Amino acid sequence: MTTQPLQRIGLVGTGAMGRGIAQVMAMAGLKVFLFDARPGAAATAREQLATIFAQQIEKARITPQDAAAAMLNLEVVDSLQALCDCQLVIEAIIEDLEAKQQLFRQLEEVLAPSAILASNTSSLSITAIASVCRHPERVAGLHFFNPVPRMRIVEVIDGLATSVGARLQELVRAIGYYPARAKDSPGFIVNHAGRAFGTEALRILSEGVAPAWRIDALLRDSAGFAMGPFELLDLIGLDVSVPVMESVYRQFYEEPRYRPHPVLRLMQAGGRLGRKSGQGFYLYDEPGDTRRPPQAVPHCSALPPVWIAADDEVGRLRLLDLLERLGAKVENGLRPSSSALCLVAPLGDDASEAALRHATDPSRTVAIDTLTALDSQRCLMLNPATREDMQHAAHALFSADGGTVTLIRDSCGFIVQRTLASIVNLACDIAQQGIASVADIDAAVRLGLGYPLGPLEWGDQLGPERLLQILERLHALTGDPRYRPSGWLRRRALLGLSLRQPENPMPA
Ligand SMILES: NC(=O)c1ccc[n+]([C@@H]2O[C@H](COP(=O)([O-])OP(=O)(O)OC[C@H]3O[C@@H](n4cnc5c(N)ncnc54)[C@H](O)[C@@H]3O)[C@@H](O)[C@H]2O)c1
Repeated sequence: MTTQPLQRIGLVGTGAMGRGIAQVMAMAGLKVFLFDARPGAAATAREQLATIFAQQIEKARITPQDAAAAMLNLEVVDSLQALCDCQLVIEAIIEDLEAKQQLFRQLEEVLAPSAILASNTSSLSITAIASVCRHPERVAGLHFFNPVPRMRIVEVIDGLATSVGARLQELVRAIGYYPARAKDSPGFIVNHAGRAFGTEALRILSEGVAPAWRIDALLRDSAGFAMGPFELLDLIGLDVSVPVMESVYRQFYEEPRYRPHPVLRLMQAGGRLGRKSGQGFYLYDEPGDTRRPPQAVPHCSALPPVWIAADDEVGRLRLLDLLERLGAKVENGLRPSSSALCLVAPLGDDASEAALRHATDPSRTVAIDTLTALDSQRCLMLNPATREDMQHAAHALFSADGGTVTLIRDSCGFIVQRTLASIVNLACDIAQQGIASVADIDAAVRLGLGYPLGPLEWGDQLGPERLLQILERLHALTGDPRYRPSGWLRRRALLGLSLRQPENPMPA
């Protein structure tokens, strides 16, 4: 097969995605031929791009010369036959296996034997699409994200027979995007790795640990996500996100790590799809801010002494440092005095279990999450026996420097611990399955999902041993196999290695 650079691109389906792909390709100097089955649609798409370019010129984002050159690169055609000289055809038509197979069959009749066929599918198998082609080796996935001009990541997917992945990676690099190479598998990288955030948040919500807005606030402000999981579900709309969740879950034969929650179906049935229907996890009765003021700080005339027990040294030092800054009176005895507030900092346990393990009086025990920095955000967890005066004392103490305190009910692994551990664990499992390289998993998740760090890099920062402990306790206490630690994570944690340590190369 020729290795000429790919410069003449056919684009079939000029809806939201096709138009965006055409835009970035034309701007990168590639010749793009637009075709859509709906008469006039391709010409409309080209006109819409002219309007977008004009707006960008006004905002001084591009020059009139660049816009004119890009427009010259965009040509509307009225038949598939007119794509016969294209070196690559990308389809962005409806998400339907038969329609895509039918299109690729027709394209094979028209294109040169060296031409590549790529699909922008988000959820269909590339191998299944290619199965109807005479040359499945030239069929690959080229999965752009919405909105294409802003999301600078493309998943390049190899079906079982694909041999053109490297050339597509080269093309993606040439247009200034990151090509994350992945094996054909449900959800590829981004829609697979993204399953943990929402599904874990839904479990937390359904266990009554905290209301949606408080879970969102914690994951934004303590963990660093740009948006909380419920804000995100509301933004995307359940009509879009539920089918993706259910499809990945089913395609992995009901693997519990991907299990959606029944409340989603209930909300769909009730028309609560999110922002688009005026109500989802939030009510959008007025232009919507989903944020709520922090819980009011109770008045506490005299704070009790504090006795602490942490599951790990990092957490203990973090907590001691904070208590010193807050001017707390910390007890040094092996056992708490009879008046002490017992502060426990468990990894993976709930406050009840931690009280039992440290043999503290549950009514005076409050747990604090020390997985992430305690600079300004502190999450306190109460067990069912925690006394109100102790809850108030802990709340007042950790607010004394103006820090925000979030109170939650008992939960194995708090909110941030269990969410981050689930995200890192899932990414480790993707690495273990060899779906993509560690670098591509991190880049795809960072660029495709907007997480502040790639999940493996994030796991290294949080500490693989701590994450292993969180998952082992979560698994042991809940009995839910969704928390079983991935072999990738367990081995690297036990050996003191980075989660980005790749597998050994094996002789062929
Ligand atoms: N919208 C997203 O967020 C997103 C993200 C990534 C991938 N995708 C995938 O990209 C593809 C397109 O999605 P979209 O949101 O742009 O859809 P869309 O409905 O906006 O556009 C689809 C276009 O394809 C045309 N079309 C339909 N069948 C055709 C055929 N047989 N031949 C030629 N043209 C045909 C339609 O007329 C329409 O203009 C789908 O496979 C989708 O799963 C979508």
